[in-house]
Amino acid sequence: MDFTGLFEEVSETLKALAEAEEVGKIIVYTPPEKRQELETCGYIEEGTIKGYYAGKDCYIFSIYPENSRGISFYKEKENQIIESCLKKDRKIGKTRQKDRGFRKKESWKKQKEKKRLSEEYTLRPAVQADATAMAVLYREGFQMYPAPLHMENYLLKTMDSNVLYLLIEKHGKIVSIASAEMDPKTGSAEITDCLTVPSERGKGLIKELIAALEKELSARNFLSSYTLCRASSSGINIAFASLGYTYTGRLVKNCRIESGFEDMNIWCRMLSEEKLTEE
Ligand SMILES: CC(C)(COP(=O)(O)OP(=O)(O)OC[C@H]1O[C@@H](n2cnc3c(N)ncnc32)[C@H](O)[C@@H]1OP(=O)(O)O)[C@@H](O)C(=O)NCCC(=O)NCCS
Repeated sequence: MDFTGLFEEVSETLKALAEAEEVGKIIVYTPPEKRQELETCGYIEEGTIKGYYAGKDCYIFSIYPENSRGISFYKEKENQIIESCLKKDRKIGKTRQKDRGFRKKESWKKQKEKKRLSEEYTLRPAVQADATAMAVLYREGFQMYPAPLHMENYLLKTMDSNVLYLLIEKHGKIVSIASAEMDPKTGSAEITDCLTVPSERGKGLIKELIAALEKELSARNFLSSYTLCRASSSGINIAFASLGYTYTGRLVKNCRIESGFEDMNIWCRMLSEEKLTEE
C-alpha cells in the first residue's frame, strides 16, 4: 500500500513470498505515475480510489498467483446490482439538476427533513462503554470479517486512534453501526464496518450513518471518502450510490467475509465537492 522505489524490485520479493506462503492474491495500491511499472510486471488494474493520496487518485492493481482466486463466482448478479444502482443514480442526478435549475430551495429542505430519523432513534458517536455491545452485534452480524470487530479490545483500540464509529440506538439498544477509518496524512477516509440488525433493515439507517460520517469528515477537512463494499449486497451498494458516490471498480475475491472470499466494489466521493454543492 505504500511502497517506494522501483516496483520491479519489489515485485521479485513479492513473487518469492507468495510462492513460499501460498498467497492467492497480491494487491498493490499505487499513484498514477507508477501504473506503467505495475503493468510491466503483469499486474492488472482492478479499480481506483479518487483523491486517496491527498487529492491524487490511487490505482489498485492485482495479480493472482493462484489462478482460481482471480475468477469471480457471482459476476452476473454483481453486475446487475451495479446496473440498478447506476439507473437509480441517473434518476437522482436528474432530480438534483432540476432542483438546481429552478432554485427550488424548499425541495432540498423537504428532502433533508424526509431523511431525518424518527424520534425513537438516536444517532451518536460510539464511546468506550459501547464496545461490549458493539462486539456482540458484530459477532452476530458477521461470521467472519477482515478485521476482528467481534473483539472488544480491538474496538477500544481503534476508537482511541484513527477510527470514528457512529451508531444508531432505538430505545437504548444499538441497531445500526458504521465507521470511518481516517488517514490524516492523506486526507482520505474509508467508510466501513456497516451493519444494521435484521429487524431494522430497509429503514434508511445505514444511509443516515454514512451521511453523518461524511459530515464529520468534511468538518475535519478530509478531502475524500470511499468504501470497499460487498459486491453481492444490494443494500450497501444502493446506499452509497444514492448518496452520490461513484462506482470505480471491483476487487475480485478480495476479502474474507462470512463463508469465504468475496468480491468488493469500490465507491468514492470527493468531500470538497459536497461542500461546494451545499454552498
Ligand atoms: C447492508 C446493510 C448495512 C444495509 O443497511 P440498512 O440500514 O438496511 O440500509 P438502508 O435502509 O439505509 O438502505 C439503503 C438503501 O438500500 C436499499 N436496500 C436495503 N436493503 C436492501 C435489499 N436487501 N435489497 C435491495 N435494496 C435494499 C434501501 O431501500 C435503501 O434504498 P434507497 O436509497 O432507495 O432508500 C444491511 O443490510 C446489513 O447489515 N447487512 C449485513 C451486513 C453487511 O453485509 N454489511 C455490509 C458490509 S460491506
